[in-house]
Amino acid sequence: MGDTGNMPAASLVIVANRLPVKRVEADEGSSWVTSPGGLVAALTPAMADYDDVAWLGWTGEDGASEEPFEHGGIHLVPVGLTGPERLLHYDGMSNGTLWPLYHDKVEPSEFHRHWYDGYGRINKRFADAAAASAGPGATVWVHDYQLQLVPGMLRAIRPDLKIGFFLHIPFPPPELFYQLPWRRTLTEGLLGADLVGFQTPEGANNFHRLALRLGLGSRRSKSALDVDGRTVQVKSFPIGIDNERYADMATSNAVIEAAQNLRAQLGNPHVVMLGVDRLDYTKGIDVRLRAFKELLADERLQASHVTMVQVAEPSRDRVDAYISLRERVEQMVGEINGDYGRVGFPVVHYIHQTRSFEELLALYRVADVMLITPFRDGMNLVAKEYVATRFDDTGALVLSEFAGAAHQLKDALVVNPYDIDAMKSTIEHAVGMGAEESRKRMKALRRSVKKHDAATWARSFLSSLAEQEA
Ligand code: G6P
Repeated sequence: MGDTGNMPAASLVIVANRLPVKRVEADEGSSWVTSPGGLVAALTPAMADYDDVAWLGWTGEDGASEEPFEHGGIHLVPVGLTGPERLLHYDGMSNGTLWPLYHDKVEPSEFHRHWYDGYGRINKRFADAAAASAGPGATVWVHDYQLQLVPGMLRAIRPDLKIGFFLHIPFPPPELFYQLPWRRTLTEGLLGADLVGFQTPEGANNFHRLALRLGLGSRRSKSALDVDGRTVQVKSFPIGIDNERYADMATSNAVIEAAQNLRAQLGNPHVVMLGVDRLDYTKGIDVRLRAFKELLADERLQASHVTMVQVAEPSRDRVDAYISLRERVEQMVGEINGDYGRVGFPVVHYIHQTRSFEELLALYRVADVMLITPFRDGMNLVAKEYVATRFDDTGALVLSEFAGAAHQLKDALVVNPYDIDAMKSTIEHAVGMGAEESRKRMKALRRSVKKHDAATWARSFLSSLAEQEA
């Protein structure tokens, strides 16, 4: 067993690329704070069902592994990556190969053997750390595309464990996946799990087909495979948010006041449109800006009437495709404001920063129209967060049909982001939506977000895993 500090063997081990905390530096020294939102928020209710929980992940900083520590009742085990390892595993294989490939190749995917070798080494480091943290017969839940080899590696060391894997991003059709030179080993890695979960039935079905096509398993049922005498379940579990937290905070005085101030700062426009995304080429930020620009040019929308706020959180900014996207988006924002803004009244307020939870809530409350237009997205929790804050059943949600969330949020204005004319008329529809239509749609949307919340997601995954026969 490796060094896990004083941790008693955990009954639940979460293995994710990132730890659920970030280091903050202050005059008194550095400390850890829980990352807002994200996976930890989704897992918190389910983690409370276990006595000892360990979470393995990367701190996001270059350097060797640090000592495990306790935070928020969880035993955190940092897995270190040096700068060169990060380039191969994170910037390279994870975000230069797998991310674009799994998102319909919206940008080209690069295949490099040294990236894959680095990815394998880091996956082994995670697998070894998980093996050292887990108690006998424990449950290990591995997350996302950065760690697809971990289930197989872990099973080889610790066959006593229950291993689950959940993919947070889309899983592509076998026809696309087949381009990967490492298609076989990656699939074998995933099949090391007892349960492989996806955001949508399409993702699950794509993986099921892939495993059969590669001859790595045989069909047991629509949602299960026989692999080397074991059963591997393959199912979809759409992730949700902590609905109550958003709904409660939205009605707090602090958020109501912040929203009023924000609207005044924007010049009290008739309509505020909002986009909140990581600055990622899958999110369709550019196409949304283009549709808005054309609507202004066609005079179907007036700059004096409609204001757009686009929060684009900095992300993966060492990867080339992200650098060029930033240039493209910022140029478009500049063009729109140059052509249609007035002194003191830009038409697009562009914020390339991470906003706090409270600020995000105020933005959601101010937004009359929420624009979620990804070319492909595993789920898109921003769509669900927006809905959860609309306690008064106002507002309109424009949602790409290629976001996993479109499966649950059927009462949104669903649009194909590749169809610019459809985007324009959908945005126009949203801007002009009457109170009665908003109310009807938002009521149904809120019901759906509440039903498919984070606790339901995590518990249903973990109980499917627990029910699986040994
Ligand atoms: C997506 C992925 C996560 C990832 C997050 C942020 O949601 O599914 O695994 O952590 O993006 O990206 P980053 O590269 O900053 O971790």
